[in-house]
Amino acid sequence: MADAAFELRGRKVFVAGHRGMVGSAILRRLATEDVEVLTAGRAELDLRDQAAVHAWLADRRPDVVVVAAAKVGGIHANNTYPADFIYENLVMECNLVHGSHLAGVGKLLFLGSSCIYPREAPQPIPETALLTGPLEKTNEWYAVAKIAGIKLCEAYRRQHGADYISAMPCNLYGLNDYYHPENSHVIPALMRRFHEAARRGDDSVVCWGTGAPRREFLNVDDLADACVFLLRHYSDHGHVNVGTGSDITIRQLAELMAEVTGFRGRLDWDTSKPDGTMLKCMDVSLISGLGWKPRIALRDGLMETFEWFLRQDAVRA
Ligand SMILES: NC(=O)c1ccc[n+]([C@@H]2O[C@H](COP(=O)([O-])OP(=O)(O)OC[C@H]3O[C@@H](n4cnc5c(N)ncnc54)[C@H](OP(=O)(O)O)[C@@H]3O)[C@@H](O)[C@H]2O)c1
Repeated sequence: MADAAFELRGRKVFVAGHRGMVGSAILRRLATEDVEVLTAGRAELDLRDQAAVHAWLADRRPDVVVVAAAKVGGIHANNTYPADFIYENLVMECNLVHGSHLAGVGKLLFLGSSCIYPREAPQPIPETALLTGPLEKTNEWYAVAKIAGIKLCEAYRRQHGADYISAMPCNLYGLNDYYHPENSHVIPALMRRFHEAARRGDDSVVCWGTGAPRREFLNVDDLADACVFLLRHYSDHGHVNVGTGSDITIRQLAELMAEVTGFRGRLDWDTSKPDGTMLKCMDVSLISGLGWKPRIALRDGLMETFEWFLRQDAVRA
């Protein structure tokens, strides 16, 4: 069951998707461990190619595989390319999980997201809410593929005794996030808007909705730490939620963002715009009970992310 204390020291760890936001954070975290990290960029290894993935795994023989590769995107991308979202995610998971099994990989961690849970899941969302009701329509293609990934890990454990586990993070923020104005997460979108308003000396920034919805945000470096913790200490059928267990309103987040970016103007709320779900928070009692908790306070994490963002901005300018 839970604390199997898997020995990571001296292992070969393959991080699939190492250039992504999550994969790159896992690389930073693994740099502090005595492990050999294996990576393969998309040009070297297209994870949709079954024969190539199986051959690569058979050749490199990692001891541990972390599945941080995925086709990810916002509502617009999910709506426009549903086939790509479901197919690419399913095929990458299948290739990596089955290929790992064939190559004798001892431990595998699959990463999903909180979108796997039903639209009307109880709050905070416990792991047991999985498959208890209809999904949010806007990203069900992605969510169905991610649910299949969890079930793949469970099935290989059940049939083959494989020590394959999965983790479901809440909203993430931090280094290497997307800062595209129309297709980014709430934190990078607000950061860019406030930063640009501060630079122009605007009197006000308009935010969507009432600011009342509550959301949970985890720094990606805390997630990476949780992944290493779970590799070491978790070995069981069920997936594990990873979050902070606390949430803030979008209004509080916007105020914090104004402070971090140095925006001194007014915040206006366009209440004609939709609020979305009022509450979305994960129940993190399982991972807390195992002994893990996040370390990075939201304000500190935002400051660090903003410094990184400014460096990227300077590079782009
Ligand atoms: N970011 C979040 O807020 C968040 C929240 C909860 C859960 N998660 C989960 O964390 C995981 C990683 O997300 P992320 O935000 O790190 O995504 P990301 O930044 O888009 O990174 C995805 C990585 O997968 C790689 N990849 C995709 N298709 C590939 C292919 N066919 N062959 C080889 N590599 C391929 C990408 O390679 P390229 O660099 O070549 O494109 C990229 O390195 C996902 O499962 C996601 O659901 C993320």
